[in-house]
Amino acid sequence: MTKTRVLTGITTTGTPHLGNYVGAIKPAIEASQRPDVDSFYFLADLHALIKCQDPKRVQQSRLEIAATWLALGLDTDNAVFYRQSDIPEIPELTWMLSCVCAKGLMNRAHAYKAAVAENEELGHQDMDKGVSMGLFGYPVLMAADILMFNANKVPVGRDQIQHIEMARDMGGRFNHLYKGQYFTLPEAVVDDKMEVLNGLDGRKMSKSYNNTIPLFVSEKKLQKLVRKIKTNSLEPGEPKDPDSCTLFQIFSAFASAEETATMRADYENGIGWGEAKDRVFEYLNAHLREPRERYNALLEDPGHIENVLKQGAEKARAEAQPLMERVREVAGLGRFV
Ligand code: TRP
Repeated sequence: MTKTRVLTGITTTGTPHLGNYVGAIKPAIEASQRPDVDSFYFLADLHALIKCQDPKRVQQSRLEIAATWLALGLDTDNAVFYRQSDIPEIPELTWMLSCVCAKGLMNRAHAYKAAVAENEELGHQDMDKGVSMGLFGYPVLMAADILMFNANKVPVGRDQIQHIEMARDMGGRFNHLYKGQYFTLPEAVVDDKMEVLNGLDGRKMSKSYNNTIPLFVSEKKLQKLVRKIKTNSLEPGEPKDPDSCTLFQIFSAFASAEETATMRADYENGIGWGEAKDRVFEYLNAHLREPRERYNALLEDPGHIENVLKQGAEKARAEAQPLMERVREVAGLGRFV
C-alpha cells in the first residue's frame, strides 16, 4: 500500500487554545491513526523566531505544544513528531531552494505584503521597515519543511495556501533545473467544514486578539473564562438564538449531535445565560479533565518530552539526510571521490 504522506507544522509562539484543538490538533491526531496515512508533525520553532524574539516564550511554547499533542493522544509510533530545529538539513535545504527561488515570488507573499501595506498606511518612508530577511524568506523555509519529506498533503488554514503553491513552485523549479524527481509537489488541504471557533469576544479565537480559552487551564480558570464569553442581555425565559452565539458554537464543537440538539432546544426554551454557561463549563471540564492531568504530568517531566522529540528527529533525519545528500550532489556539492 502506498501511503499518503501528510505533513504539517505548528509555529511555537503561543499556548494551545480550544480553537487550535478543534481546528488543527484533533483532526491531525485522528488522521495519524489512519492506516493509509503516514504523518509528519513538527514544532516549527525556526519559524517562531520570525515573530518572536523572546527566548522564554519560544521555549515555553515549544514545551506546551509538545505536551499538548502528546496529552491528547498523538501516538508517536504512528506519527513522526519532531522539532524543526533538530533537523539541520532543513535550513540547508532552505539555502538550496533560496538559490532557485525568484525574489519576485517572495515579493508577492502575503505576510510580506501585509508588512509593506502596514508601513504604507503608517506613512513610513521605508516600505521594508521592520521586515527581516526571515519574514521575507519565510515561504522558502516552509517549502524546505515540506519538500524535505516529500509530503503529498499539507493541511493548513486558508492563509497558508499561497505558501504551499510557492513550495510547489520551488520544488518544480529544482526538479526542472537539475533534471530529476528530487521533490514531490505537495498539495494544500483546506477543510471547508473545519470549525473556526470564536473567542471570548465573539471574534475568531486567536492569540492576536487575546480572546482565547487555553486548552489546559485549571478548572477554576476555565470556569472563569467560560463565564466571560460574550452573550447578550436577554433574560432567562426569553428564547435565544443558538446560531449567533459563541457559547453555543463552542459547546457544539465538543458535544455530540444529540447533546447539541438538546442544548439547541434549551436555547429556544429560554435557558438563562448563567445556566447555559455552567453547563458548557461542566461539559468542557469533563472532557478536558483527563488530558489536562496527562498534560500537567508531562510538563513535570520535560526529560520525557525531550526523549520523544529526539526519537522523532532521528526518524525524520533518516529521511532528510539521504535526500539532502542527493540534492547537494546534483547541485555540484558532492564529494570529490
Ligand atoms: N507557517 C505555518 C503557520 O503559520 C506553520 C508551518 C511552518 C507549516 N512550516 C510548515 C505548516 C510546513 C505546514 C507545513 O501556520
